[in-house]
Amino acid sequence: MRKKIVAGNWKCNTTLSEGIALAKQVNQLVAERGNKETVVVLGTPFTHLASVAAVVDPARVSVSAQNCAAEPKGAFTGEVSVAMIQSTGATYVILGHSERREYYHETSAILNKKVALTLAQGLTPIYCCGEALEIREAGTQNAFVQQQLEETIFLLSPEDFGKIVIAYEPIWAIGTGRTASSQQAQEMLAFIRGLIVAKFGEAAAAACSILYGGSCSPANAQELFSQPDIDGGLIGGASLKAEDFLAIVNAF
Ligand code: PGA
Repeated sequence: MRKKIVAGNWKCNTTLSEGIALAKQVNQLVAERGNKETVVVLGTPFTHLASVAAVVDPARVSVSAQNCAAEPKGAFTGEVSVAMIQSTGATYVILGHSERREYYHETSAILNKKVALTLAQGLTPIYCCGEALEIREAGTQNAFVQQQLEETIFLLSPEDFGKIVIAYEPIWAIGTGRTASSQQAQEMLAFIRGLIVAKFGEAAAAACSILYGGSCSPANAQELFSQPDIDGGLIGGASLKAEDFLAIVNAF
């Protein structure tokens, strides 16, 4: 059975003390009332990783970076390497988020380096894909997402592909309050799973966790997670409120 995963993406929010307080709250709620089947991940700013990893129970709550350097080490001022991320206790790295692709010009070539370094360090990439509104309106979202995958994680060996978590996040649904309908999300995730069948086979497709992201909330998580191909969520805004995040963790 593939894993059910609810990953918070805090983005560029919370000071260190606020982040530690939020992580402690989530950790406590998950310990007291969390669905034990759900893998819970907190995607914090780099500055918070070590402190957050120190206050959560690693058996119940994992910690993720939201990006990593495209080089292993060296003269890259301001960058944070995967070895540094691993040394904090974090075990996941969110890669290819649409905000990074759009505002920081992350291309498939750059993402391939980041994915390879993350895997080589033994960390799990949460690899994001998803189309902009114009593409959805033109009806070409499937071809767009297929190309995003074919240029990147579909080039991996079957063994490495088996270590990836995929997050489909339509850009028009991120932070807008406009969620994809459960039918739209299910259609895309079933399409992606079909591509994995064609590329890596049935067993790889059945084992791959594919998440939905974009205005996922306590109000819609249950409906989304009841779809057969939706294995959880990448949660932005709602991950900043511990009770809302817990409700999503428990929405399976
Ligand atoms: P949102 O963000 O839940 O605030 O829409 C999701 C994401 O960008 O990962």
